[in-house]
Amino acid sequence: MTVNIITIDGPSGSGKGTLAAKLAAHYQYHLLDSGALYRLLGLSLLNQGLQEKLDSELTKCAEIAANLDIKFITTESGVQVFLDGQDVTQTIRTERVGEFASKVAAIPALRTALLARQHAFAQAPGLVADGRDMATFIFPNAQAKIYLTASAQSRAARRVKQLQGMGLDAKINDILANIEARDKRDMERTIAPLKPAEDAYIIDSSALSIDEVFSLMTAYIDKQLAN
Ligand code: DC
Repeated sequence: MTVNIITIDGPSGSGKGTLAAKLAAHYQYHLLDSGALYRLLGLSLLNQGLQEKLDSELTKCAEIAANLDIKFITTESGVQVFLDGQDVTQTIRTERVGEFASKVAAIPALRTALLARQHAFAQAPGLVADGRDMATFIFPNAQAKIYLTASAQSRAARRVKQLQGMGLDAKINDILANIEARDKRDMERTIAPLKPAEDAYIIDSSALSIDEVFSLMTAYIDKQLAN
């Protein structure tokens, strides 16, 4: 049986997560939030006091990456994420973990250690894979490849709203600086940098609502899946 794969790549805050979840529900496909894997790895390394030892303890860090004890549970209100049996759904979304995840994600041996786990998500009837290198590297044969972007300003404004909704303090200038630094790191790293695949459908969501982006995506995906 064919496993249909839809990839959604793009920078932080472009709305990928929300749209990937909506698409997975719409098509009744599995969902891979690959950013969550990097965040979980980052959190695990932070918990084990390895934040300053990514280079000196690389073998140990790669082993931790390959053996992460994680679980994703889909509930009515979204996906709950567990690390070593603990609910870390909110913790992995903090700026501190996001920042560190971006550093972890720039290390080739750690990316390689997460490869098999990502490929294992490709199960019938299909998968919506959300990340940075889903189309360019992890699933290059995907049937539908979407690159979702938005201006750094509009992404920062969305992020502030999201953090405030979680009851967390957020200043727009700090968030914007973080977004710009993370974009730069994600786009300029030597391994699997953030960029659209040559055959990707590019959507700029700066001035679009979630529903508008969703309609553009489903129209494109339906066409691709019919081919
Ligand atoms: O999408 P996110 O903000 O949750 O991702 C967290 C970090 O993980 C991000 O800075 C880049 C990295 N990442 C990656 O390098 N490759 C992916 N496929 C997904 C995320």
